[in-house]
Amino acid sequence: MEALLFVELQKASYIFIMRRVYLDHTATTPLDAQVFEAMKPYFSEKYGNASSIHQFGQEARAALDQSRDTIARLLGAQSGEILFVSGGTEADNFALKGVAWKMREEEGKNHIITSKAEHHAVLETCEFLEHNGFDVTYLNVDEYGMVDPADVRKAITPKTAIISIMHANNEVGTINPIEEIGLIGKEHGVVFHSDAVQSFGKLPLAVDQVKADLLSLSAHKIYGPKGIGALYIRKGTKIERFMHGGGQERGRRAGTENVPLAVGFAKAAELMASMGESEQRRLGQLKVKLHAMIEERFPFVIFNGHPTDALPHILNISFDSEKVEIDGEALLFNLDLAGIAVTSGSACTSGSMEPSHVLLAMGRDEKTARATIRFSMGESTTEEDIEYTVGVLEEVVRKIAKVLV
Ligand SMILES: Cc1ncc(COP(=O)(O)O)c(C=O)c1O
Repeated sequence: MEALLFVELQKASYIFIMRRVYLDHTATTPLDAQVFEAMKPYFSEKYGNASSIHQFGQEARAALDQSRDTIARLLGAQSGEILFVSGGTEADNFALKGVAWKMREEEGKNHIITSKAEHHAVLETCEFLEHNGFDVTYLNVDEYGMVDPADVRKAITPKTAIISIMHANNEVGTINPIEEIGLIGKEHGVVFHSDAVQSFGKLPLAVDQVKADLLSLSAHKIYGPKGIGALYIRKGTKIERFMHGGGQERGRRAGTENVPLAVGFAKAAELMASMGESEQRRLGQLKVKLHAMIEERFPFVIFNGHPTDALPHILNISFDSEKVEIDGEALLFNLDLAGIAVTSGSACTSGSMEPSHVLLAMGRDEKTARATIRFSMGESTTEEDIEYTVGVLEEVVRKIAKVLV
């Protein structure tokens, strides 16, 4: 049966393969050529350990300091408030575990507030903390995946150590009102962390404006290298150290500094900033086009995410299970065979597609959540890519969907 299906899909693919279209920039982005050039010397001739006092070390130290200054400047932060880490996952772990541990130890606070639509890096860290005696409130989100600041306010108790609410959602693109949430945190003296992995470089993100005490960032979502990110820690925030060892990163995250990756991260961030709003506007126009073409051709599609308060490069759609029966896996597989790289936004564990926790939290039923496509555009995406994608999608849907109404 499976073999038959495969042959069937392969046959179909001959019709389609005409170009390769990468529409998964939310998962990762290609490394920018200028970023690669900036990093190269720090892999070869400028290889010193940034903690060494000789000239080789000092050369590496200068590059590291400069990279830290760049990230800090782009956030309106001080250099000492930026810690380089291995990526968004580590930044989330560091922020939550570090603050939770410290606040319990020093102030007896053991309560955490987060939302049901967070990235797994936050959710699984919270689950770990629950197993270690912390209480976690997982707030509901609305039909667009947005957190209501009033719910945050209601959830705060005298025991609340930290609030962690993401800036922009990685599956549906919805932007949370983090300024308001940050203010609520301030009023109650509660530390506020925001996972800004998807918004950094794309939305304005000045730390004083967004009122965050901690921000998680990652380089590979902005055409930088994989394996590096940063945690912004507002001066004075109580946080336990994350890695024990040498005194690197102000003694909070031990381990020899990854200078080439830090240089690449800073270069990528600078390039994103230099593009200003024009690239985001261009992506927004492509999203409008993709949205319009899909709406016109697929009457049984539901658009996920906020219609206006959302990242301009993500479009997430589901096929309404009450109107059409469609196998989400076959859908993605057929698109891939035709050269189109998209995702459902759901975790693919041991070969079975789990429905997205974000879509379930937004009130989608399981079947609909499984029949989902997340398109995420980037610098290389053109109007022709969008037209090709919609054309192929039409062919695939015609082939595998069973219309119920
Ligand atoms: C919102 C969000 N947080 C955290 C992460 C994890 O970042 P990294 O891949 O750098 O560990 C991702 C990556 O997909 C993300 O989208």
